[in-house]
Amino acid sequence: MQPQQKRIKSVAPIVKANAQTIRNAAKELAAGNLVSFPTETVYGLGADAGNDRAVANIFTAKKRPDFNPLIIHVKTAENAFALGKSNATAQRLANHFWPGGLSLVVRRLKDAPVSPLATAGLQTIALRVPAHPVAQSLLQSWGGAIAAPSANPSGCLSPTCAEHVADAMGDANIACILDGGPADLGLESTVVGCLEDGDAILLRPGSISRDDIEEILDTPLREVTKKIADDDDMTKGSPGRLARHYAPKAPLRLHARDVRPGEFLLAFGKDTPPGPRYCLNLSSHGCLREAAANLFSYLARLDMEARRVGGDVVIAVMPIPERGLGLAINDRLRRGATREKEGSVL
Ligand code: TXA
Ligand code: MG
Repeated sequence: MQPQQKRIKSVAPIVKANAQTIRNAAKELAAGNLVSFPTETVYGLGADAGNDRAVANIFTAKKRPDFNPLIIHVKTAENAFALGKSNATAQRLANHFWPGGLSLVVRRLKDAPVSPLATAGLQTIALRVPAHPVAQSLLQSWGGAIAAPSANPSGCLSPTCAEHVADAMGDANIACILDGGPADLGLESTVVGCLEDGDAILLRPGSISRDDIEEILDTPLREVTKKIADDDDMTKGSPGRLARHYAPKAPLRLHARDVRPGEFLLAFGKDTPPGPRYCLNLSSHGCLREAAANLFSYLARLDMEARRVGGDVVIAVMPIPERGLGLAINDRLRRGATREKEGSVL
């Protein structure tokens, strides 16, 4: 084991999971920091699901070029269905496979205390009750929901042990990596969409087989097809499926350096142009992480205000630098600015 440790370049400490280190990790979550923890599928990179900035840090750490929606981990099915709308089919799957390697995508409840960045501004939410005792203790100790993608840089393999996390996440800002030994399943959770009773769709194959799921359902699991991808809000959550991923009702005018009569402004930085009818600033001091944290909620607020005042309000969006989280912010803005479902192919 010694030679392997030499390769580890992470500044994040690996700590053996026990009651004390799990309590400390829960405190880190409460302080808005990132914690890596084991689940029975793969290791996750967790943040307080309700904290916009903490969730934005996940995307920085993973160097994600866009904002994919994250899986929200909770302790029980009851906790899950306090965040997302249950139906008989979802409940049936939950009863059978939770805790375990299944993530269920259901409609997000309006008042769910989950950052819109964690659900990428979608009206749906992916929920999972992990079975791993360390994940369960962390959720118990923390007392809330944890947004967690797999703890690997975007596009790399999912980690199945603490050393993989330390190795792959380099010098990402992670408070600690809870070591709970190798992941039992080693494959990510199966993601099933279940927005309506009697309908379930396989969004990502994973550690629970299709056969096992179909045995519990009365009907076959639907597959994602091009037709569904066009029509179904849920499949927009899967990376890169639709050009127009998240769009406010009001049109967006990107790279705006001025404000035209009647326009709203989504500003960035301190040098904002004069004259908007209504303005929100993603980050007045030009911080991309803060901007990412505010992006979806500010777009929703501007959109709501545009609907309130009526007419054809356009939202002018100031240029965002194409670096770091700016890449992901611009990706979402470009998709949001696409009026038609252009290029909506799988
Ligand atoms: O096993 C797992 O699922 C691990 C552990 C840590 O729980 N997590 C994981 O997360 O693999 P991540 O972020 O690497 O993958 C999440 C998947 C993505 O394919 C994403 O598109 C999908 O879940 N997803 C999340 N929210 C969604 C939504 N609202 N609609 C559709 N797909 C969603
Ligand atoms: Mg992943």
